[in-house]
Amino acid sequence: MSRLAGVAPSVLAADFARLGEQVDEVLEAGATVIHVDVMDGTFVPTFSMGTPVITALAERIHAAGALVDVHLMVDRPERHVAEFAKAGADNVTIHVEATPHVHYCLQAVHAEGCTAGLALCPATPVVAAAEVAPTLDVLLCMTVNPGWGGQPFIRESVTKVERLRAMLGPEVALEVDGGIDAETAGACALAGATLFVAGTSVFGASQPGNAVRDIAAAVDTGRDL
Ligand code: DX5
Ligand code: ZN
Repeated sequence: MSRLAGVAPSVLAADFARLGEQVDEVLEAGATVIHVDVMDGTFVPTFSMGTPVITALAERIHAAGALVDVHLMVDRPERHVAEFAKAGADNVTIHVEATPHVHYCLQAVHAEGCTAGLALCPATPVVAAAEVAPTLDVLLCMTVNPGWGGQPFIRESVTKVERLRAMLGPEVALEVDGGIDAETAGACALAGATLFVAGTSVFGASQPGNAVRDIAAAVDTGRDL
């Protein structure tokens, strides 16, 4: 089974003034993947963070045996793969909508020694990933529109996840991202998701570690919405 599995807290929702401490807290609660959202103000209208944050966090994440999962919401990601790999990314996910050179970019990610992911926005059909499916380590199904944390889960995503799983077969990690909490994660798990990005539901909770454990339990149980 892929190491890209379980609950992946998204640091976008963390308290940036205490970022290291907050990451330690979710690692101690059992998170084995930490999700980092990179936004360029062009592919999505917002800005978030870049390589300095990954450099600052990578050592403590790796020391805990966990992976750095970088979600690039940037135009022409092929121009930036090397710098994110160098900063400490283990997985680099790009958007299918962000470049005409998806296959080339996925190859570039592998050439840097990282696993490679492809992300699909909510309006992008499943078939958009079909030609590169054999190249993928992970497929990221956006369950909100990219660019902001704290949005409600798009319920139609559940059947999209089912169709993605059917297309990918059983081996490829299938990541859901946006509005994931102890309720929505169970339905996504039943539909075939294996990696669950959670920002607000983790770092917006009074006890982020408990929130990670609650979502992990919901994934194990699996429950329809
Ligand atoms: C949205 C990002 C998400 C975000 C999810 O563009 O890709 O990773 O952090 O945040 P929540 O869990 O708050 O929806
Ligand atoms: Zn993300």
